[in-house]
Amino acid sequence: MNCEIMLMENNVDIVYFSGTGGTERAAKCFKTSFEKVGREVTLSKVKDAPISFGEEDGLILLLYPVLAANAPRLVHDWIERLESVKGKRAAVISVSGGGEMSPNTACRAAVIRKLERKGFVVTYEEMLVMPANFIKFSGVPLSRLLLEALPKKVEAAVSRLESGFVTRSRPLPVDRLISAAAKLEQLGAVSFGKSIAVTDACISCGRCAENCPSGNITMLEGNPIFGSSCNLCMGCIYGCPTGALKPQMMKSAVLKEGFNLEAIEKAELPQNADINALTRGYSWKGVRKYLTGD
Ligand SMILES: Cc1cc2nc3c(=O)[nH]c(=O)nc-3n(C[C@H](O)[C@H](O)[C@H](O)COP(=O)(O)O)c2cc1C
Ligand code: SF4
Ligand code: SF4
Repeated sequence: MNCEIMLMENNVDIVYFSGTGGTERAAKCFKTSFEKVGREVTLSKVKDAPISFGEEDGLILLLYPVLAANAPRLVHDWIERLESVKGKRAAVISVSGGGEMSPNTACRAAVIRKLERKGFVVTYEEMLVMPANFIKFSGVPLSRLLLEALPKKVEAAVSRLESGFVTRSRPLPVDRLISAAAKLEQLGAVSFGKSIAVTDACISCGRCAENCPSGNITMLEGNPIFGSSCNLCMGCIYGCPTGALKPQMMKSAVLKEGFNLEAIEKAELPQNADINALTRGYSWKGVRKYLTGD
């Protein structure tokens, strides 16, 4: 469904969850783009985000990575804690490695339903694509192209939001079913977090505890201790400077080559890249469409 409404708010509250930095980059891009058009922007990580929004707050923009065709559990928990509002406008942006394809299309449905129950009017939803950090890496050239495409994608989204453009999707029932079933993987996240072994390579730098988006890691006498609120984001595992964290579950899904967006950003931008060749195969169909429109 697409239509247009008048935009009245002045400020924008951006709330995001990010494990390995892709969604954080998208959230920061939104901040820059909204500021360019004169909006005042507040950026908060979901674990520190406010739970009450008043008259003075304008658009609420929520961003999160797609984890097993769903939003991270912490995002659902935050919405459940939100105080009810009367018709405040919200937009939901999901960030995935695979793009808007089955079953990812259902990854915003439950989030939007919960926001609507709290009185928000969700007028806009979109899928952005960033490098895939789980099971199968997108590869450096494709990842580099995705990072390059991000500012323009966000600028286009901001100009649609500014013009009051309304867009809501209708996921297929089968995608909703798969997304609901995949929630089991999120239940497994607690065990996953508990299974992460800290090896002798740990230098007690505290980076994992500082960056965990769920606040699930505390440092005790120089050792990282994992709690029961892991969201399976992979941030601590890929972000450890010495590779000291070794999960004992889902080992084959963790990328052997690691995952480092800063290193990808430094890679040379492929010139005249053959996007069809880089996205060959069904599983990259959504990425191909995102980059080429086909
Ligand atoms: C446990 C896990 C499950 C994931 N599941 C999906 C998925 O169902 N569909 C998809 O397209 N990408 C999936 N991804 C990839 C992420 O959505 C993607 O890499 C995203 O850009 C990560 O964002 P972040 O860097 O902000 O954490 C998954 C990643 C993880 C760690
Ligand atoms: S990031 Fe790695 S080295 Fe630093 S405290 Fe955590 S496990 Fe240890
Ligand atoms: S413990 Fe590690 S994998 Fe779990 S939420 Fe924190 S950073 Fe992510």
